[in-house]
Amino acid sequence: AVEPDLAGRHVVVSAGGTREPLDPVRFLGNRSSGKQGYALARTAVARGARVTLVAANTGLPDPAGADVVPVGTAVQLREAVLKAAADADAVVMAAAVADFRPGRYAEGKIKKREGEEPAPVELVRNPDILAEISAERARPGQLVVGFAAETDDVVANGRAKLARKGCDLLVVNEVGERKTFGAEENEALILAADGAETSVPYGPKEALADTVWDLVAARLS
Ligand code: C5P
Repeated sequence: AVEPDLAGRHVVVSAGGTREPLDPVRFLGNRSSGKQGYALARTAVARGARVTLVAANTGLPDPAGADVVPVGTAVQLREAVLKAAADADAVVMAAAVADFRPGRYAEGKIKKREGEEPAPVELVRNPDILAEISAERARPGQLVVGFAAETDDVVANGRAKLARKGCDLLVVNEVGERKTFGAEENEALILAADGAETSVPYGPKEALADTVWDLVAARLS
């Protein structure tokens, strides 16, 4: 049996990857599967939490016992996360949120025309949701957790990102072949604003999720 150490807590988890539309049929997206976020939602339910799962384009079955809010774009994900975060004890931003979106949405499908160069795509910045909820803290003592994929200097880059975003915990994945995107397993280094460092060996995404909740539960109590 699992300790119900999150009983009475409301946690918000974002999962998946945002899609930023160019026209009615095309979008800019990323390869996030949503599996790590879903593992976080399942394990939080098992530990007794009320769970809101903001799911961006995952196509995964709803985890039993979680409130699932489907979203498409970063702007929609922001709305859903901010709304759910209003009374949340913890917010875990596992979703891969697009940093940029096309500045213009074409109401009709963009067409190729004989002898014409394609029009350039202008990008505009999306809001940084993690930085925003970290700065606002809808509730005193609310815990905010971010994710980061790094290819090199994992600790230094992770520490810098943790400080920049202002969150309490940052789960840093070293990106490489076979790792992270779409895989069933994951490994990570979890950096805490209080200085703690927890390394999670290669294993099921549930194990990483449970370690995140261990760190969250310890800091909530
Ligand atoms: O800056 P970077 O994209 O590496 O940060 C990753 C973390 O920030 C993830 O937790 C992601 O969910 C969050 N993020 C966000 N809003 C953005 C971009 C990333 O909340 N626009």
